[in-house]
Amino acid sequence: MTALLDAGERLGRGELEALQLERLRATLRHAYENVGFYRASFDKAGLRPEDCRTLSDLSRFPFTVKADLRDNYPFGMFAVPEDRVRRIHASSGTTGRPTVVGYTDRDLDTWADVVARSIRAAGGRPGHKVHVAYGYGLFTGGLGAHYGAERLGCTVVPASGGMTARQVQLIQDFRPEIIMITPSYMLTLLDEFERQGVDPRTTSLKVGIFGAEPWTEQMRGEIEERFAIDAVDIYGLSEVMGPGVAQECVETKDGLHIWEDHFYPEVVDPFTGEVLPDGEEGELVFTSLTKEAMPVIRYRTRDLTRLLPGTARTFRRMEKVTGRSDDMVILRGVNLFPTQIEEIVLRTPGVAPHFQLRLTRQGRMDALTVRAEARAGATAGEREAAALSIAAAVKDGVGVSVGIEIVDPETLERSVGKIRRIVDLREAT
Ligand code: DLL
Repeated sequence: MTALLDAGERLGRGELEALQLERLRATLRHAYENVGFYRASFDKAGLRPEDCRTLSDLSRFPFTVKADLRDNYPFGMFAVPEDRVRRIHASSGTTGRPTVVGYTDRDLDTWADVVARSIRAAGGRPGHKVHVAYGYGLFTGGLGAHYGAERLGCTVVPASGGMTARQVQLIQDFRPEIIMITPSYMLTLLDEFERQGVDPRTTSLKVGIFGAEPWTEQMRGEIEERFAIDAVDIYGLSEVMGPGVAQECVETKDGLHIWEDHFYPEVVDPFTGEVLPDGEEGELVFTSLTKEAMPVIRYRTRDLTRLLPGTARTFRRMEKVTGRSDDMVILRGVNLFPTQIEEIVLRTPGVAPHFQLRLTRQGRMDALTVRAEARAGATAGEREAAALSIAAAVKDGVGVSVGIEIVDPETLERSVGKIRRIVDLREAT
């Protein structure tokens, strides 16, 4: 086993922390000297890069938020001359300007290394075929997965997202061992396998590497069972790198090991910004340790999780991200995340794993309707029982009353990438 680990994965905790501190100090210097935004924000806080003498000194430095990236659109956060930037990615963002990120040659090299490490932790080996169904383009999913799989010595099938019938055909014909895809799109593929009369348990696939959106243990159970594969979690975000910031190991499936030799994690109280001890839940914050083109200092991800000690690797783990503060619905004072509904819908008999949350306004109150799809062949009685059961489980588990609508099979829109769970009709109602 140890022979398969790369040099970074074999570092002891003490060696790792020494490396992190050295890299952190270099990153703070690089950011301060080359990015006007960081120089201004450190100056305002009365700090110089040299003031970071220990890893915990980082907590004295200011946060960076998505709006800072938008304000410096397009290239204001870059720390190298433009001709050293070899690639640009961007996330569309729901409002306003996209967030732009850049990579030097060395950054692309590091990225391929961490994704290769991720695929290996998921059980991938040189010689495996990897079907990449993350979207290619400005989104980091497709190209990030692609170069990592090549780096590991795999054969890549760059399928990208969409053309679902063809994806199923390619999987049958090319016989990949690994698929990299969003969990919601995997469910779309599942429908398509069934439509084509192919038993999804009989494919060549052994492992699915799922990420780019939150998903639950119930979803893992559903996918593993229906496809007869191992399903593991990959996490990342474009501002920090793309996919491959953290990865779940297939032998333990117990949360994601953060590749801490490149990305330094903190978890903070989302309201006060105070750093929380490992084990406590809060907002995940990252500082890049090796990035050249666009170092990020204390970037607030808005993802909620907790840090846990390492198991299959020395690196610390993060618990599966169950929600983003942006996706939290506040309903009559109760906080609700779509993943809480996912858990309930997926364990309810009679409904398929497809659901949508509709937010409307009734008078001055917000109302939420869970629209879940009946399983093919479910009787009227089973549909009625499912509706009652979901309503009761949400009331008990989340503590709020929601409307339930069981819709006909194959009526909810299917995902081809990142799924949008919440349809906000409050402006319209
Ligand atoms: O989604 C990068 C990625 C691609 C990760 C493919 C994994 C696989 P962005 O488009 O910048 O980058 O979106 C980042 O997606 O802050 C999380 O809210 C969410 N996210 C990503 N991976 C996971 C995951 C890519 N495994 C945002 N679980 C992040 C839960 C995830 N949420």
